[in-house]
This record gives sequence, structure tokens and C-alpha cells, in this order.
Amino acid sequence: MKFFVDTAEIDAIAELNDLGMVDGVTTNPSLILKSGRDILEVTKEICDLVDGPVSAEVVALESDAMIEEGRKLAKIADNVTIKLPLTWDGLKACKVLSGEGNMINVTLCFSANQALLAAKAGATFISPFIGRLDDINLDGMDLIEDIRTIYDNYGFETEILAASIRSVNHVQQCALVGADVITAPPEVIKKLATHPLTQAGLDQFMKDWAKTGQSIV
Ligand code: E4P
Repeated sequence: MKFFVDTAEIDAIAELNDLGMVDGVTTNPSLILKSGRDILEVTKEICDLVDGPVSAEVVALESDAMIEEGRKLAKIADNVTIKLPLTWDGLKACKVLSGEGNMINVTLCFSANQALLAAKAGATFISPFIGRLDDINLDGMDLIEDIRTIYDNYGFETEILAASIRSVNHVQQCALVGADVITAPPEVIKKLATHPLTQAGLDQFMKDWAKTGQSIV
């Protein structure tokens, strides 16, 4: 399973990238706002830093304007993935921009039928939002499973990019049901390394080591 980092914060991306944990990056207008950076400049910096796909989202709502924005974003670097919303206009833009050879991430997906349409429109990635479904008492993981089944039934090559990941449990469940990619905030990815028994075991080893009076170097 590939790990994308869901942020536009360069330092956080660089830290995970140095460890080989970054297969790509996703951003959205809210994350650009949070970063305080210019979208074109920060997207270029991220693209220079990581080898994998870097999603940059259009903000137009009508297909022709989305296509114009998408073409501009695609010029930033070869690894830009144009992020389009799952609306009828977004699907039209997806068809055109994917036909021009661009990678497309169709975002704001909340149903299996929406995911089916995105695959038929040529999306490279579909982004089902797990956390936001959980927020309204639905099970985001059911959606990932349903899309997996549908894509496998018909051999669609669109990759399932599980988004709106809020917890380490989301990551594990996505891996178990076969999501191709997860995109998660840096703090969730770092938390995957933690376990209370690891910490407790380490604390005990340190106490006992101190009592030996030894040093390794
Ligand atoms: C990524 O592509 C999405 O925009 C992001 O994961 C949304 O996460 P949120 O629901 O926590 O804002």
C-alpha cells in the first residue's frame, strides 16, 4: 500500500520523505490556506522534493474553467496530479484532462456509484473520504470495501486513494480491505510507529541497563 502525505507543509513532508515513507502528496484548498503559501509555489516545491504524484486541486466549478486551471497546474511539474471534485463538471474535466495524458485525482467521493463514474471518466485515483462519513455516523470503511469489489469486478485500473484518514485504525483497516493508497496527515503516519507496550518495554530496558553500569560506546 502506498503512503501519500495529506499536507502542504514542506518540513513535515521532508521529514517523512527522508525516511522513505512518502509515495506521494495530496493537498486541497483548506490545506493550502493552512500552509499560508501560494498554491503554485508550494506545489512546485513539493514536486521537486518528492518523486511520486502530488495532487493540486482546481477551484473552478464549471468544466471549461476546471480544464483551464488543471492545465496550468499540470505545467508546474511532471508529477502533478490534477485534483477535481466529483461533480458532473468535474467528471467532464476528468475525461478531457486524463485524455491529454494527465494524472487525475477525483476527490470528495462519498458513494460507490460516484467512484464507478470516476473510473469510467479515466481517473487515475479516486478519493473516498472515510473520516467525513464516520463524522455523520456512516461507516467510511464500507465504502472502501464496496469500491474495491466494484473495481475488481470490472478490472478498473483507477487506484483507490483512501482520504480523510483520521486515525491509525483507519490506516490498518484500509490495508486490510485493499485500498491502493492512503493519504494521511503527517502526525497519523508518525503515530503508526507507536505502541504502549513498545514504550513500556523500552522504559524497563533502560532502567535495567542503567543498573548494569555499562556503556556500549
Ligand atoms: C485529501 O485528499 C483530502 O482532501 C483530505 O484527506 C480530507 O481530509 P479531512 O476530511 O480530514 O479534511
